[in-house]
Amino acid sequence: MRRKILAGNWKMNKTYSEGLQLVDEIVELFNAQPVDGVEKILAPSFIHLSAVIEKVKLIKNFSVASQNCHHQKNGAYTGEVSAEMVKSTGATYVIIGHSERRSFFSENSVVLSQKVNIALLNNLNPIFCIGESLEERNANTHLEAVRKQLKETVFNLSESDFSKLIIAYEPIWAIGTGVTATSHQAQGMHNFIRSEINKKYGKVISENIPIIYGGSCNAKNAKELFACLDVDGGLIGGASLIAEELFSIANSFPI
Ligand code: PGA
Repeated sequence: MRRKILAGNWKMNKTYSEGLQLVDEIVELFNAQPVDGVEKILAPSFIHLSAVIEKVKLIKNFSVASQNCHHQKNGAYTGEVSAEMVKSTGATYVIIGHSERRSFFSENSVVLSQKVNIALLNNLNPIFCIGESLEERNANTHLEAVRKQLKETVFNLSESDFSKLIIAYEPIWAIGTGVTATSHQAQGMHNFIRSEINKKYGKVISENIPIIYGGSCNAKNAKELFACLDVDGGLIGGASLIAEELFSIANSFPI
């Protein structure tokens, strides 16, 4: 049975105290009614990492991710945060390849490969995001676009390194737009991703790797999405900023 994963990506939201308040609310809900069998990951901003780690370490099955890390080891990169620095906070995951990083910060497959490698070197597990644009979906080239992202960035990893990834399928047209992929579209793409992984790494790895969905996933649509055979959870943006909503999404997995 594959891992079930619920990750909340806070993006550039919440002041320091607002972030602590949110995590307190989350801890309270999950403490009162634990959601067993689901790995919960919070990805707050860098400023929140250590405080959030302190708070969630009291509850079972919670871990923390950074939303980014730099691709170099260390040095004169003013304003940047290295994988080693992220790891030193106690975080265990890092989001890499989010479409907002690809488009607003011009992160290409070369830089993303370096990020994946340096994260793994520091024992951080990448949550690696892939997904097509609206133009690609409309032109029916979405499968090819996603295959290219996999090939260019993570298909050069060894089997043991690749097995440490969580893949997040996030169609760009669904992120923050309120337009969610239908369960048919999500299942179709997740199944395609798994079959590409099968071709490259074989059945055992492809059957075990978690592939989660992101893009306007919320308490209303999570149940239908998570019921899909190849959808192993969600990467939640906007809806993860409301504790009750996140809790309700965590309760949307098939039993
Ligand atoms: P959204 O963001 O849930 O707000 O669409 C998802 C993401 O970008 O990870």
